[in-house]
Amino acid sequence: MLFDERPKTEKKDLFDREKELNETISNLHRPLVLLTGVRRIGKTSLLLVTLNETRVPFILIDARKLKQNYGLKDLYMLISESLSSSIDKLGDILKKIRGVEIFGISVELSWKGRKYVSLSDLFDHLNEKRVIIAIDEAQKLRGPLSKEIKESIAHAYDYDRRLTFVLTGSEVGLLYDFIGRENEKSPLYGRYYHEIKVNRFSKNESIDFLKKGFNEYNRKINDNIIEEVVDFFDGIPGWLTLAGNYLVSGKSFEEVKEISIKIALNEIINLIENKKKVSEIAAKRYRHVLKCISEGANNWSSLYECLIRKDGSTVSSSVLHNILYQLENMSIISEYKFLDSIYEKAAAKL
Ligand SMILES: Nc1ncnc2c1ncn2[C@@H]1O[C@H](COP(=O)(O)OP(=O)(O)OP(=O)(O)O)[C@@H](O)[C@H]1O
Ligand SMILES: [Mg+2]
Repeated sequence: MLFDERPKTEKKDLFDREKELNETISNLHRPLVLLTGVRRIGKTSLLLVTLNETRVPFILIDARKLKQNYGLKDLYMLISESLSSSIDKLGDILKKIRGVEIFGISVELSWKGRKYVSLSDLFDHLNEKRVIIAIDEAQKLRGPLSKEIKESIAHAYDYDRRLTFVLTGSEVGLLYDFIGRENEKSPLYGRYYHEIKVNRFSKNESIDFLKKGFNEYNRKINDNIIEEVVDFFDGIPGWLTLAGNYLVSGKSFEEVKEISIKIALNEIINLIENKKKVSEIAAKRYRHVLKCISEGANNWSSLYECLIRKDGSTVSSSVLHNILYQLENMSIISEYKFLDSIYEKAAAKL
């Protein structure tokens, strides 16, 4: 079903990603592949369908589950969970690794002590077979263990020729940061990776997507409404899916708009709350910058002027530079514009 709200796993449910799917599959012989794109664009769906289509054994790690300052234990718990899900295909390798215990259908990894198994050891063992190591939202691996993880990926890149890492990221700048694209000191610096950028649907594709989805429910929705929905959500599949579900359930387009803006607003507020952990002032400035951009401040001077006005104090230009840099890294804005128009509408309500 096209409107299934979970990430798709089967090709038949994945609308129009033929090109991206082929490109991903045909690059899986490489050591490192990146799937990038804004939130809700369909990266996880593309990843899961790829894994399903290729039938190569894989481990799938959802790095979004890690808290910001995660430790080795948290990371190892996450990896053992994903190893457990792949036990039928990888059990024969895993049972040979010192520090890996198998209890029925669950795998336990020693994260300290005599039997400690390092990530590089684990990768070297997995390399016995062709294995894809998929890490969803890999930028979340940044943090205190970042260096160790990157070193182990760099080691596997060079020596474990049967392994392929597929990393996705919705905070694209942070993902580049993680792999050290511009940092000569990063263990992964200078290594080739193949990037597949997942883009939004065109207007016609969005219309087809909705029509096909409504058809599956035997529902006929007025063409004018479909046009309005498509214009409002600007080709982002996740929003179109959400809208499709609410419209099928009998909600009006006005209600759907409200719901989506509320969801986006909640995400923006979470972002600001996260900044509060560092400093109240910083958080307030993030809020002001987002609000100013939503009000149309679309160049440096108007944004700077707006921030100072809202802040009621002088702000050094480096502060604004930094906020813009971070928001761009998180793929929230680019060149003074929101990448997702629903975020823009939500930010106006801040
Ligand atoms: N090509 C597609 N065909 C059908 N449904 C899709 C497609 N792409 C995305 N979707 C739907 O849109 C929603 C978001 O997709 P998905 O979770 O794969 O995106 P994502 O980029 O991983 O999002 P996030 O950044 O939030 O993790 C899901 O409900 C998914 O089923
Ligand atoms: Mg995802």
